[in-house]
Amino acid sequence: MTVLEPGVDIGEPTHPGGIGVRCTGVVHLYRTFEGHDVVALQGVDLAVRPGERVAFLGPSGSGKSTLLTLLGGIQKPSAGRIFLGEHEISRLPEPQLARLRSRRVSTMLQGATRNLLSYATARQNVAFARLALTSAERRQAVPETALLARVGLESVADQVVATMSGGQRQRLALACAVSTSPQLLLADEPTSQLSHEDRDAVIGLVHDLGDELGTTIIVVTHQPEVAATFPRTVTMKGGRVGLEGRDGAEYVVIGAEGVVHLPSHLAGQWPQGTLVRIEPEPQDGRDRLVVSRPPEEGG
Ligand SMILES: Nc1ncnc2c1ncn2[C@@H]1O[C@H](COP(=O)(O)OP(=O)(O)OP(=O)(O)O)[C@@H](O)[C@H]1O
Ligand SMILES: [Mg+2]
Repeated sequence: MTVLEPGVDIGEPTHPGGIGVRCTGVVHLYRTFEGHDVVALQGVDLAVRPGERVAFLGPSGSGKSTLLTLLGGIQKPSAGRIFLGEHEISRLPEPQLARLRSRRVSTMLQGATRNLLSYATARQNVAFARLALTSAERRQAVPETALLARVGLESVADQVVATMSGGQRQRLALACAVSTSPQLLLADEPTSQLSHEDRDAVIGLVHDLGDELGTTIIVVTHQPEVAATFPRTVTMKGGRVGLEGRDGAEYVVIGAEGVVHLPSHLAGQWPQGTLVRIEPEPQDGRDRLVVSRPPEEGG
């Protein structure tokens, strides 16, 4: 349970608009039960501007969920710096961080049930999510019934979560996440268990939040249909940012010390250990680098 400390100034919580988030050189290790270290993130640099909407993509285990929880201040990075607006959350003491999280950020963790109180009703879950709001903010907020109706849960508003289907839980978790009008919404695979129709409704609700409040939105997804609704995509690869998509065009991102990942459709033809030359070759006034391999020796 979050303890709010009076007198910690984190700015106006109901300040309209989104909040930016950026990280530099973020590394994250997990210590396993057997005492081994697992490197989940190895040097992530990323900046998301206020009000921007980004989809995180990438294979299982590439670090998407880890990065999301770090950006939301739920975990602290092993190394590197993370800024939420002006605040360096990777260094903020826990009480201030808790306040920042509860008033400005909504994080929907992977697996809807982790975000909900199982033995409470849908309506009670929304009320619980709003506990950190002031009574004036609560009066201004969309009423619980109306919010639940927007995700198609009006008929189960008084049903306990434990008796709901996976899809209903996922829709409820999202309703709870948007119920506090956050400045940053982080949602980890919010539509993975939904039918096409419910998926579109849920993603519609996410974008409505952005349209109405200018909320900064980051969604992790494996679904191309969901990613296609976002103007920017960030593809994680082996704990780093591998690719970025802007308005439908894909870009490889140059990492620390000049590291470049080949796009996966080419990597098979250029296996690990291949020797290549990289030479500049300007053409039509554009900067170009040409990657070539020497002609095969022998037969
Ligand atoms: N609590 C943990 N303890 C140990 N290792 C972990 C833990 N959480 C994640 N990892 C490891 O960190 C790496 C990144 O995991 P992460 O959950 O961030 O990936 P992901 O991209 O979200 O994958 P998925 O698409 O399967 O959800 C993986 O190798 C994973 O096994
Ligand atoms: Mg994940």
